[in-house]
Order: sequence, then C-alpha cells, then structure tokens
Amino acid sequence: MSAATTTGYRLFEITADRVEEYRAVDAMAFAEAAHDPALDAEVPFAVPLDRAVAVETDAGEVVAVHGSYAFTLPTPGGEVPCAGLTWVGVRPDHRRRGLLSTMIRAHLDRSLGRGEPVSALFAAEPGIYGRYGYGSASDHVRLTLPRGAALRDVPGSSDLTVRFATLDPAAHEGLVEDVYAAAGAGRPGWIRRGSDALRRIAVADPAAWRGGGEPARLVTVHAADGAARAFAILRRKQTWGDGGPEYPVQVRLAASVDAAAAHRLWSMLLDLDLTTTVASNMLPVDDLLLALLVDTRRPVPKVSDNLWVRLLDVPAALTGRRYAAPVDVVLGVRDALLPGNDGAWRLVTGEAGADGTYAARVEPAGTAAPDLELDVRELGAAYLGGRSLTALATAGQVTAARPDALHRAATAFGWPVAPVCPWVF
Ligand SMILES: CC(C)(COP(=O)(O)OP(=O)(O)OC[C@H]1O[C@@H](n2cnc3c(N)ncnc32)[C@H](O)[C@@H]1OP(=O)(O)O)[C@@H](O)C(=O)NCCC(=O)NCCS
Repeated sequence: MSAATTTGYRLFEITADRVEEYRAVDAMAFAEAAHDPALDAEVPFAVPLDRAVAVETDAGEVVAVHGSYAFTLPTPGGEVPCAGLTWVGVRPDHRRRGLLSTMIRAHLDRSLGRGEPVSALFAAEPGIYGRYGYGSASDHVRLTLPRGAALRDVPGSSDLTVRFATLDPAAHEGLVEDVYAAAGAGRPGWIRRGSDALRRIAVADPAAWRGGGEPARLVTVHAADGAARAFAILRRKQTWGDGGPEYPVQVRLAASVDAAAAHRLWSMLLDLDLTTTVASNMLPVDDLLLALLVDTRRPVPKVSDNLWVRLLDVPAALTGRRYAAPVDVVLGVRDALLPGNDGAWRLVTGEAGADGTYAARVEPAGTAAPDLELDVRELGAAYLGGRSLTALATAGQVTAARPDALHRAATAFGWPVAPVCPWVF
C-alpha cells in the first residue's frame, strides 16, 4: 500500500527491514531511549507489519508512524472486531503539518476495509482524538492504599491459599492470561491480548522497566484443587526513611475471578512487610476492591479517562452489543469523516433474552425525524455503556427531540458493569 498525503510526504506499510526506522520515530515522539535489540526476545515488536503504517518524506526519511492491533472488543453483552490504534507518533520537527490527520483518515479507511466496525485507543493527551470521532468511553480509577487498609469479610476467602513468586514469563504467561480472561468475563472493554507477542509483553520484566525496584513478583491465589483464582503482578522498591522502612508497592496488573479471591489477594498485598503503601493498577470504577474496602476515602481514588471508542460502521457496531432495556429510537448521526455513517438510523430492540438484555436491529431511517441527534463521537462515548446519553445531552453534546426518547435511549444504552481496559496498548 502507498498513498499520497500532505504534499511532500508518502504513506506506506512498513516492511521488516524498516521496523527500526519506525521504532526510531516512536522513540523520538515519546522521548524514549533508542530501541535496544537485546530486548527483542523479551519485549517483541507486537504490531503486525501489515498494520504498521509510516509516513516518509520525498527523500525517504520516516517522520510519522501509527499502527493497530486486531482486537476483539467486549461490548455490553457481546463483542466486535476492533482496530486498537497504537504507536501514534510524529517527529517533533514534522508536527502540526497535518500528518496525524492524514494517518487517522488512512487508519479509519483501512480498518473499515478489514471489516472492523470499531476502533479504540488510549489517548496520550485527551485533546487529540475527539476531532476524529473518537469518544471517551470509559474511566478507570487508581488507589493508593495504606498498608493494613481494612477489608470487609468475604466468606471462603480464608480457605484460599496464596503463593508469592518471581514473575517468570515462560511459567506464568498462561496463568495470567486465563485468570485475566475469567475475571473480565462480561465486562465491556476488557480486551484480551490477541497475539503471542502481546501475551509475552504482559509478563515481560526487562531490567530497564524496574526503575530501581525489585524484579516483578507474581502473587497468585489458589483454590483447594490448586486452580488459580486471582493474580497480581507487582514491584516493591527499597526505601528507608527516618522512621524505618517505607517501601512502596506498585501493582502493574491484578485480576480476581470472584470476591473471595479478591479479598485474599488484596489482604496479601496490603500486608507485605517493610511496605507502607500499595498503589493499585487501573481498576474499573466498580471494581470489587472498592466494594471490599471499609474506608474508600483514604486511598484517594484518582479517576482518569480509559478507552476512547470510534464507531466506523454504525449499524454493525450498534448490533454488536446488547441493550439494557427495550427501545425504538431514531438516531441522527453526524460523521464528518466517514459518510457511510452520516444520517438517520433506527435502532429497535426485540424480545428480552434469558439474561434480561435485548438484541437490536439497526436500519437506515431515511428522512424520519431523529429522536436524538449526535456526533459519532458521542455515540462512541456511549457505546460501552459507561457514559450516559442523558449526561451528554445535559452537556449539550446530544440533542433530544423529546425527553421520553432520551430517557429510554439512555436507559437502553447504559450497562450495569462499568467498562474498562486494565492495560494500556
Ligand atoms: C500528537 C501528534 C501525533 C500530533 O501529530 P501532528 O502531525 O502534529 O498532528 P496534525 O498536524 O495532524 O494535527 C491535527 C490536529 O490535531 C491538533 N493536535 C495535534 N496534537 C495535539 C495535542 N497534543 N493536543 C491537542 N490537539 C492536538 C492540531 O492542532 C490539529 O488541529 P486542527 O485540526 O484543529 O488544525 C504529535 O504531536 C506527537 O507525536 N506527539 C507526541 C506523541 C503522542 O502524543 N502521540 C499520540 C499518542 S496517543
């Protein structure tokens, strides 16, 4: 593939012999050290080459890059193919000339061409992606817990056993992936790493990542039959103050399949010798830990934007999730970049399924007057059930012809499990 772009630049799919040039642009954009090939076995290059796209000058110098992963995005009650946008960078001396805009247009077209109805990303800076139709669709919360923070009792927790080990990629990759998948079943946004390379990176721990701390450790919680029920990847750091040891614990990723396992896991993490605080990883805003903590104020929860979602094929995306309540609504969607989405769409739910949720069919509504009018950005924001259409309407970002239509649509699009992706891609 090659395509014309901003004058003087050319877009092209990266080839194996040019991956170093691609990496060099990313390192320059993100102020990282140059790529060290010695790390390749531990931290492989994970962007598939046919999804790694760069921009070069007429002189053949690579100055901008982006890529995407082929993910399956869990939606409310379903899942859809999803292009996970990543590795977006423009050299500082070529920025603000429209190269990002050119790359995003190519990304949207190519993803749509591959049959991916949705794209998702983590935004390095939140001001960038709204203009391209990405909506902030979920939040995560981080806690800094004092050692010894009390948890409410959970029956069965004390029957579980705990192991503490040094993280070993070869030994632990399968356990981490399996518990992660089980823990997130039914949670929108809980993206699984869809390739060997990404699964390997999930348990990688090169010395360069340690920041003076210990090698990554793995805490696991086990049932009587030995089955793993929870894990946490963590790092402590030797720190001594006037009053003695003040080691912080940083959790990189943690997941628990149920409340008893979460109780056992966090009881262990909150009671490590020499430590004073435990910094959690990115948690869903309705995480089990928040329900177990006796004092949720002292950990000073910090909420931040998590996944950003862009609907590329509105009818395919909207039929790729289920709805919390029956609804029959005409959505007037504006999409400045993908004209196939622009227009009125009627979304109608059918009978309730056994779980009480509703599938929907979505069809062009022709000239029917919309009940709600909104940009594709706001539809992306509401897509995972984590942002209320009513709140968006209150903010003036959704216009409703009638309050009852807004209420029904907002209720149907909402979801009782908060969306999150607990790892950054
Ligand atoms: C962010 C980045 C990719 C932008 O690339 P760029 O080629 O300069 O962007 P463009 O020239 O195509 O700008 C497109 C629009 O986005 C705006 N924009 C670009 N970067 C922005 C930022 N960080 N915050 C807010 N707006 C931004 C531009 O002002 C422009 O606005 P306009 O459409 O109203 O004119 C580049 O500055 C960069 O590599 N930054 C460091 C790494 C990074 O943050 N990557 C993003 C990872 S998610």
